[in-house]
Amino acid sequence: MFTNNKPILFSAVQPSGNLTIGNYIGTIRHWPKMQDKYECLYCIADLHALTTIDKKKIKKSVLDTLALYLACGVDPNKSIIFVQSHVYQHSQLNWILSCFSYFGELSRMNQFKVKKHQNYIQYTNVGLFNYPILMASDILLYQTSFVPIGSDQKQHLELTCNIAKRFNSLYTDIFTIPKPIINKNGSKIMSLLDPKKKMSKSDINKNNVIFLLDDISSIFFKIKNAITDSDMPPKIYYDIFKKSGISNLLEILSACTNKDISTLEKELNGVFYGEFKNIVADYISKFLFKLQKSYIKYRNDENFLKKIITNGAFEARLRSEQTLKKVFSVIGIN
Ligand code: TRP
Repeated sequence: MFTNNKPILFSAVQPSGNLTIGNYIGTIRHWPKMQDKYECLYCIADLHALTTIDKKKIKKSVLDTLALYLACGVDPNKSIIFVQSHVYQHSQLNWILSCFSYFGELSRMNQFKVKKHQNYIQYTNVGLFNYPILMASDILLYQTSFVPIGSDQKQHLELTCNIAKRFNSLYTDIFTIPKPIINKNGSKIMSLLDPKKKMSKSDINKNNVIFLLDDISSIFFKIKNAITDSDMPPKIYYDIFKKSGISNLLEILSACTNKDISTLEKELNGVFYGEFKNIVADYISKFLFKLQKSYIKYRNDENFLKKIITNGAFEARLRSEQTLKKVFSVIGIN
């Protein structure tokens, strides 16, 4: 499929029919335009999702997520789109790399520390702990050069590089060392009612979150209730520390309109917060309406969806097997 030796780019999202506008703005929004510059692999990380999701929902969520990828502009003729569990090489490399990773470094992962506190430690599944090693396996199997991620995944990518360098220094240069692509704006969309905390699809209060498949009629209500500030006179400008609520709405508006934040700041000079929220809600609604229309079209064609992931798994296996073979060979277990 890939012929012209462009650098390889890998990214993934955990399947959930509940992807948020934060997942879109931070990650998936950038995927379509990367398809021309890189050889892209876009994975649906169902094995990662097993660490948290209601396990009975996973099957449906995979196809929901695939339809969302397509609706967001990912093109199966340009990119390899596949489901992680269809390519057994991921879990194989996961085991090998876990023997090259340290308990101490995994204990320091912020995401694990947060997730651990959401449960009691005795009920925290080991998959949550192992999660970053599986992510490293995803990336390293394809000799990936670039990984577009939200800023919350930066630490996991650093770990990936450390594991890869450790392995390379013991054996020859088996793995390409990947670099992150973190976009300046929108890499972390915050919760609507508490803009100091990340917007999360698992938030119990759904008014904190805008889901890509939200009922359009709920958008005005959610945005109307979003936290701003009590500056007098009200002023709309970007400053995540002093004006986290307004900055968050600006990020969202910027993504829905494709306008720079600085342009929006000029256009919104003198506008009151109530009016600003109406504008934001209006643009989000228009954006979601279009996206959902396209989503429904793809989601209703399960044969087409299944063809894409069957083909994607075939292509992904071909590539990942080459790396896995080398790994087995240098360790001496083939
Ligand atoms: N952990 C990522 C997230 O939740 C998803 C993911 C899994 C990923 N494997 C990956 C992202 C490899 C980039 C590269 O957002």
